[in-house]
Amino acid sequence: MSAVTSELKRVTTHSIQAMKNKGEKIAMLTAYDFSMARILDEAGIDILLVGDSASNVMAGHETTLPITLDQMIYHAQSVVRAVHRAMVVVDLPFGSYQANSEIALSSAIRIMKESGAHAVKLEGGSEVEESIKRILMAGIPVMGHLGLTPQSIYKFGTYSVRAKEEAEAEKLLSDAQLLQNIGCFALVLEKIPATLTEKVSKSLEIPTIGIGAGVHADGQVLVTHDMVGITKDFKPRFLRRYLELFESIGDATRSYIADVKAQQFPSDKEQY
Ligand code: KIV
Repeated sequence: MSAVTSELKRVTTHSIQAMKNKGEKIAMLTAYDFSMARILDEAGIDILLVGDSASNVMAGHETTLPITLDQMIYHAQSVVRAVHRAMVVVDLPFGSYQANSEIALSSAIRIMKESGAHAVKLEGGSEVEESIKRILMAGIPVMGHLGLTPQSIYKFGTYSVRAKEEAEAEKLLSDAQLLQNIGCFALVLEKIPATLTEKVSKSLEIPTIGIGAGVHADGQVLVTHDMVGITKDFKPRFLRRYLELFESIGDATRSYIADVKAQQFPSDKEQY
């Protein structure tokens, strides 16, 4: 055992479950690169999600649909290299698991083998049951994702709150139960009413992790770039910004430009 692993206790599926059992909330954030992952891990985050939101945040696409399996593996490798304590969960990107369970398994195996991550996440309920079962049979932990599942954005046609109507709420409740029964270790609930989150979280033994899903989830997740204010115009009601980095980095850049132009940088002490 290396010095690092013996000093720091890794977060695992087991410890995530223990947190729910003792009422400790789970803190999850996204990460796509080494430097950010290192900061978040050292700060004590429980789970780092290499989300397919990298498609928006890192690559500037409008949706999560274009990102590829190879690109997700590249981001996951960078995150895994930085992390000593957090559990690293990686999104299976759009198109890498929907066709059939064989494709799903081979995508999940590639992520685990090539990145060294600890689990995968994929979107959907009964529609992807066979794929999830097959991945779980290979010993790979799976986190589910219900509610506003961004890979289905063109089917929804809107980013507004899901499962407000009874039929969709009932389907979500039964999908949540199904995902638990087949062996998912946790479940992301995105943009659903807080009362429904409470119902799901109370009815399940496995932890729920909410985004825009209210306080009753067993944990919370945000896209890190939203949380630290790097993304500028994305201001949904559920988002709390802990920093305004777009402005801070802009100010630093303006100071740097001014110093370079005025020959104030580098100084005598900053040269050889
Ligand atoms: O890709 C992502 O960032 C996600 C979270 C919003 C849960 O799936």
